[in-house]
Parts: sequence; C-alpha cells; structure tokens
Amino acid sequence: MSAPDTIMSSMVETREFPPPGGFAAQAHIGSVAEYERMYKRSIEDPEAFWAEVAENFHWFRKFDKVLDWRCPNAQWFVGGKTNVAYNCLDLQIERGRGNHTAILWEGEPGDTTTLTYSELRTEVCKFANALKKLGVKKGDVVTIYMPMVPELTVAMLACARIGAPHSIIFGGFSATAIADRVHDANSKIIITADGGWRRGKIVPLKDNVDAAVEQGTSVETVVVLKRCENEIKWTGGRDHWWHDLVEGEADACEPEQCDAEDLLFILYTSGTTGKPKGIMHTTAGYMVYTAYTAKMIFDLKPDDVYWCTADIGWITGHSYITYGPLQNGVTVLMYEGAPNQPDWGRFWEIVQKHKATIFYTAPTAIRALARQGDEIPAKYDLSSLRLLGSVGEPINPEAWMWYYEKIGRKNCPIVDTWWQTETGGILISPLPGAFTLKPGSATKPFFGIDAAVMDSAGVVQPDNAGGLLVIRKPWPAMLRGIYGDMERYQKQYWSQIDGKYFTSDACRRDEDGNFWLMGRVDDVINISGHRIGTAEVESALVSHPAVAEAAVVGIPHEIKGQALAAFVALQVGRAAGDDLKKELLKHVGTQIGAIARPDQLRFTDALPKTRSGKIMRRLLKELASTGEVKGDTTTLEDFNVIASLRDDD
Ligand code: WTA
Repeated sequence: MSAPDTIMSSMVETREFPPPGGFAAQAHIGSVAEYERMYKRSIEDPEAFWAEVAENFHWFRKFDKVLDWRCPNAQWFVGGKTNVAYNCLDLQIERGRGNHTAILWEGEPGDTTTLTYSELRTEVCKFANALKKLGVKKGDVVTIYMPMVPELTVAMLACARIGAPHSIIFGGFSATAIADRVHDANSKIIITADGGWRRGKIVPLKDNVDAAVEQGTSVETVVVLKRCENEIKWTGGRDHWWHDLVEGEADACEPEQCDAEDLLFILYTSGTTGKPKGIMHTTAGYMVYTAYTAKMIFDLKPDDVYWCTADIGWITGHSYITYGPLQNGVTVLMYEGAPNQPDWGRFWEIVQKHKATIFYTAPTAIRALARQGDEIPAKYDLSSLRLLGSVGEPINPEAWMWYYEKIGRKNCPIVDTWWQTETGGILISPLPGAFTLKPGSATKPFFGIDAAVMDSAGVVQPDNAGGLLVIRKPWPAMLRGIYGDMERYQKQYWSQIDGKYFTSDACRRDEDGNFWLMGRVDDVINISGHRIGTAEVESALVSHPAVAEAAVVGIPHEIKGQALAAFVALQVGRAAGDDLKKELLKHVGTQIGAIARPDQLRFTDALPKTRSGKIMRRLLKELASTGEVKGDTTTLEDFNVIASLRDDD
C-alpha cells in the first residue's frame, strides 16, 4: 500500500449553517460548550466516561473493568455479561415501550407490516427457539442472505439472543461471493428467502444460495422465508420453510448471558487484496457505542420515526437500522425496494405516508434523486422531517445544498457521518443541536474519539494541510480483528502508523477543528457508497479462461461517486471483441455481484508496469478518466504499452 506523504486539498467552502430555529433547545446536546466539556472528559478519562454511559444498559453481570488495551487487542467492559437482543427488546418493554411500534415496514409492491416491541420479541424468541432446534449453538456462525424484510431483523436478533454470531451477506452478492464467505466463516446454516422485490423484479435469492451450496460449502441447513412465492428448487432434508419451523414454537426464549467480548457478528468487507475480510464485532462495546451514538447523533426521541435507507447487508444497516435505533425504543421505518419503483418519488411518498422524522441516506442516492428534478420532492409533504443524515462517502457541497433546501426545506440539520465497517459506529459527525454545519465537512469527532491527521511517519499535520486520518485511542465499537487472520488485522490497521488505528482515508482538519474527508488512499473504490477492492475485481477477471492479466482502477462518476475501469490483457490466441467484453462483464457479475461490474473495459496487449513489475495504476487511472496520460512515466518499463492503450478504445 502506498500512502502519499502529504495530500493536497484545494476545496474551499465558506457557507455555514447553525442549527435551525428551536432545534438546539430540544436537542440532547444543545451547545458547542456542552459538546466541548463532554468531549474533553471523554478523552481525558475515557474509562469514567464510558462507565457512566454503560449504566443505562441491562447487564446480567456488571463489568469489572472498562478497558483492557494491549495494542492491537482491546477488551471493553471486561467481565461484563449482557445480551444485545435483550437490550433491544426486553429492556425497551420493561421501560414501557411494549406497545410502541418497533418496525414499520413497507415492501416494494406497497404491502406493509408493523411490529410492536412486544410482537418483535415474540417473533425473535420463536425463531431463536427454531434455530436451537436445528442444532445452532452459542458460537456457531449463522449466514443470512435475505431481502429487506422484518424477518431479517428477526433473524439477526434471534442469533444475538442465543449467542450465535451472524454473518449477513448483502442480497446483491453472487453465489460465488456467498460460497467464499460461508467457507471463510465455516458456517453450516444459511437463512434466506425464495426471493426479494427489487425494481419490480424478483431477486432469486434461493437460487443463488443453491448455487453457492453446490460449490462444496460446509452448509447443512438452509432456512427459507416465503416472500415472493416464486418457484424454487427444494432439497429435502437440507431446506426448511421458515413458517414451518416457527409454528408451535414457544414465544419466550431465555437470552444467552454473553460475555462482553463474545463475537456478535462478522461482516465481510473489501480490502486491498482479493480476499474479503471478515470484520469481527463483539458484544458489549458495540452495543453501548451504537446505542449511544444513535441517540446523540440522530438526537433520537421516543416519538421519532427513523428511516435509514441502507440495506442491512452493510454495516450502516447493522448499526443504524437494527442495533442502535432499537436500543433507543424508537420506530424504525424499513423499505424493501428501489428508490425509483414505481418512480423517483417513492422515497418522498414513504416519508409523507409514514411521517418519517429522521431520514438517513447516502450521497449517491442524493445525487441520483437530485438529478430527477426539484418538482418531484416538491409534490410531497415532507414537513414531518426534522433531521437528515448522510453516510458512505464524502458529500459534495452541491448535493448537500440540494438535500438541505429541497428535502429539509432549510429546517433540518444534516449529520454527515464518517465511519467504516471496522469502526462499528459513527466516529466523526456533527451533533445536530450544537454544531454549525459546513457543507462537505463531517465536522468533529464524537465523544471518546481521538482523531488526528498525520503524515505516514506519524507526524501530526498543521491545520489545513492534508494527510492521513488516524484514531489514536481505542473506542468501544472498534473491530476486534479479522476472522481467521489476526496478523492481517495487526498489519493493516495498527502498524502503518505504529500503535494507532489507520483508517485508509485522506483528510484535512481546518482551523476550527472540522474534519474534511477526501477519499481512500488505498486500492479500495467507493461505488455508490459501497466498498469494492480493485484486487477483488482483478481476481474475478483473471479467473476467466480468456484473461491473462487485468488491472482495475477507480474513475470519477457523476452519480455513483466512483466507477471502475478495467484493463484486460488476453491469453495468447484469444481475440478481443464486443462479445468477449460482455462475457467478461457478466463474469464479474457472477463472481462478485452487479455492483462490481466495471463501467469501462478495454483490451490491451500488455499492462504498463514499473521496472519492479508493479502495475502503474496511476497512469491507467489518468488514462481512464481523462483519455490521455500526461503524468510522470519515468519508471515505466515499456513506453509502447501506454501508446497502444491510448489507441485502443
Ligand atoms: C467512506 C460505511 C466521507 C470512507 C459506513 C470510509 C465517508 C469508507 C463517509 C467506509 C463520510 C464513509 N464522508 N467518506 N461521511 N462515510 N466514508 O466500510 O472512505 O462501507 O473509509 O462503511 O467509506 O466504508 P464502509
């Protein structure tokens, strides 16, 4: 990995937006002074700070010690015993929220379901009992590959209730991607559905699971939820209908008393190598941090109808659809389908219909929605909204302004939340009742987060000089490792700048202490807010028999933020052509999933390399985004390669 020593930033943004009238007075944190006081304490005495926050949770056994930190191994709330599902459900019910709506769900075809906290607990307990009957035990990894339906939340909470870590795979991933993840986690059970609705079509989830299991995985049991009633293949003995399993199950299930550091889930994410990393999150630290950040950053109140448009298959859905909001007893709005089904007004129609008060989405969605014109949101009553959020990539100031004016109608603060799969929860974000917002800045670190901008030698950079974003102290929701590869964990996150958490993001801190994120410094590309490692796409291409070598780079894209461009050298004797191009793009789709399919694919005789044999991605990037190469080519091994690439398209 090469990280530039200094990173120039030329962005200047001077517009400022204080909290809109009345917001500060009702907010959990209502002034900068209060934030600063609490922040100072959280950094000077993190153990006292987090011990106090942790009081508000249910513990079977209170922890003995807040933090045991031996870099890179952290243990939070040492000796404590708790259960995250209990905190999401039973604790809320004990606090009088039993009849309050927990999940307000809308399917893409327009069907709706609501579940109160009591009803959700019943469903979770029944399914937890069914899992136990299938032989699932504490510590067994349960793979979940489902559409965005309430049963997905039920499945994850059922796993948490019995102490079985879940590994959720986004429904857009292919059979091969499922097989890889199942194999890595040595998972013996997959929970899926016959299908899910997306853009008026059925995503054949069960077919993909069948194809994955056929690739020689460890899977012995497949649980199938009936959602679309599409025809599926059935393997007797292995496959079980969800509704058959839960029938007659008791509606109570004793929660497992999990250790604070028991594994809660694995979530696979892209890194710089071809192999996705199973990021590990454990019980108590993740529980406390997601609940507390959700409360403070989304300013959650008992009557909020909170809608995060992410899929639960990504970390945003784990932390801020399920675990964070439910622990605050609010109503979580969930939508199954696409933003443009049946038309581009769907999101706003949902906000209007269910009176959503908080709306949290990604810049890529904001750009796509803005492009459809202001008349669309203008048709809807969005007056229920009081707060907006953004996550997944830097939000460009123009998109920010559109969101603020056309959706928030200048009445809603925007929380631009910076975080990662690895961080478990939001690390840098405005507190909406306290901060003056600057479009494009995620503003300041949350309580307990000691963020700094450094060069690659670990020297803190002056104000406004770009550098690498690092976190100098452990925090409760931090990853505990990479499943099965602790060496890679240490190397990737704690060794690049010795003893500090390396985020792989470039950043600038301005004179007021606001952080401006500038994108990744590694070979991870952010497409529509989702991470795709270029190495993964390269391996997928090279796995096709016609391909000798491939290089994949990121290029700017108006809606998606970034897109992929692939350069492919073929095996001797294979001829380039449109059919092969289509075949290769399809191949990437089946190897990884449609999100990883490159927007451009060019054939070339050879790839430009340095004398030491490294592919010169910088040149390819320049070529793919500008159509020419002006950059420094002094280390290039074969100048003719660039010339032929230029002519090729
Ligand atoms: C990027 C998503 C700028 C960043 C929660 C990070 C952001 C990667 C922001 C993690 C933001 C996320 N501003 N960049 N508000 N939020 N990113 O693991 O590059 O899918 O490293 O987690 O997304 O992506 P991941």
